[in-house]
Amino acid sequence: MATLAPSAVSAKQDFLPLKGTDHVEFYVGNARQAAHFYRTGFGLKLVAYSGPETGQRERASYVLQQGKIRFVFTTSLRPDSAIAEHVARHGDGVRVIALEVDDARHAWMETTARGARSVSEPHETADEFGRVTTSSIAAYGDTLHTFVERGHYNGTFLPGFAAEPEDALARPTGLKHIDHMVGNVGWHAMDEWVDFYARVMGFQLYQHFDDKDISTEYSALMSKVMANGNGYVKFPINEPAEGRKKSQIEEYLEFYQGPGVQHIALATDDILTTVAEMQARGIEFLTVPHTYYTELAGRVGRIDEPVEELERLGILADRDDEGYMLQIFTRPVEDRPTLFYEIIQRKGSRSFGKGNFKALFEAIEREQALRGNL
Ligand code: FE2
Repeated sequence: MATLAPSAVSAKQDFLPLKGTDHVEFYVGNARQAAHFYRTGFGLKLVAYSGPETGQRERASYVLQQGKIRFVFTTSLRPDSAIAEHVARHGDGVRVIALEVDDARHAWMETTARGARSVSEPHETADEFGRVTTSSIAAYGDTLHTFVERGHYNGTFLPGFAAEPEDALARPTGLKHIDHMVGNVGWHAMDEWVDFYARVMGFQLYQHFDDKDISTEYSALMSKVMANGNGYVKFPINEPAEGRKKSQIEEYLEFYQGPGVQHIALATDDILTTVAEMQARGIEFLTVPHTYYTELAGRVGRIDEPVEELERLGILADRDDEGYMLQIFTRPVEDRPTLFYEIIQRKGSRSFGKGNFKALFEAIEREQALRGNL
């Protein structure tokens, strides 16, 4: 692994200043039920809705929020739509990673001038709460980046969405913000997408891992982490590497029918409480063997959390020269072995848990084998 010294890009040099992730939109088969899963299991609150009751005849969308995390679940109400086609091909998955900007027209012009494919030209929508400008470009697979300019808007989400009354079902679990979002791309395509984020969006290489860092007896992958100028947005990009058996990236690519978002890492300040809550609500996490915990103190040294507690919940730990971090991964959250979540608490460390890769990927492979896909 190599961690690159953060070379801060000054606001002046950064041609695509991002204020952070605005929202993530998922295309799903049944948005009402998906929303229920994230409300009860993850504790995101339903804050806004768009559908037939609000004059939207083609689709229904539920907007959920906790801390700075905002997820939108959208389904088609008809068989012949781009949303329905997306779901038929990919299953439930991420369609849009929306990024907040001060100027959505400028973001679209800068990125398309550098070779991005335009999906939606800048356009303004408005309601009684103000106006919003959005524009979109294509990223890997069928995934889009939408630039959202909401400086002149004070409604709940976007024009066309109705605010929901206070959500009595969702109880927060302590999730705060998106730490990173990982994309899986095809064989030998990692550097092409690393180049896309560097050239088209002004991101920089933040860390990289090769197949020696990320391999088990059976399979391997390679990963490069790209970060935007201010470091608020981090996109690791994975590609499969040759191994004796099928890697988890290949399994993803087969079942997602191409590149797409593999996992979303959600940050908490209290991972013990967050994970205990999520487990009590039925969210399923990967587990590692007992030996992982007998070796933990020797590998990461002193940490604030009791190792027995980490083992009881299945939480992993790793350390680098800046501090340590705690992380845990869910099983895939749909029937296809595609999207999953990471829950992460950083205590100084800015890295991605390299010391856990082997134990973690062996856990994933045990599940792959159960599915007959290893
Ligand atoms: Fe991650």
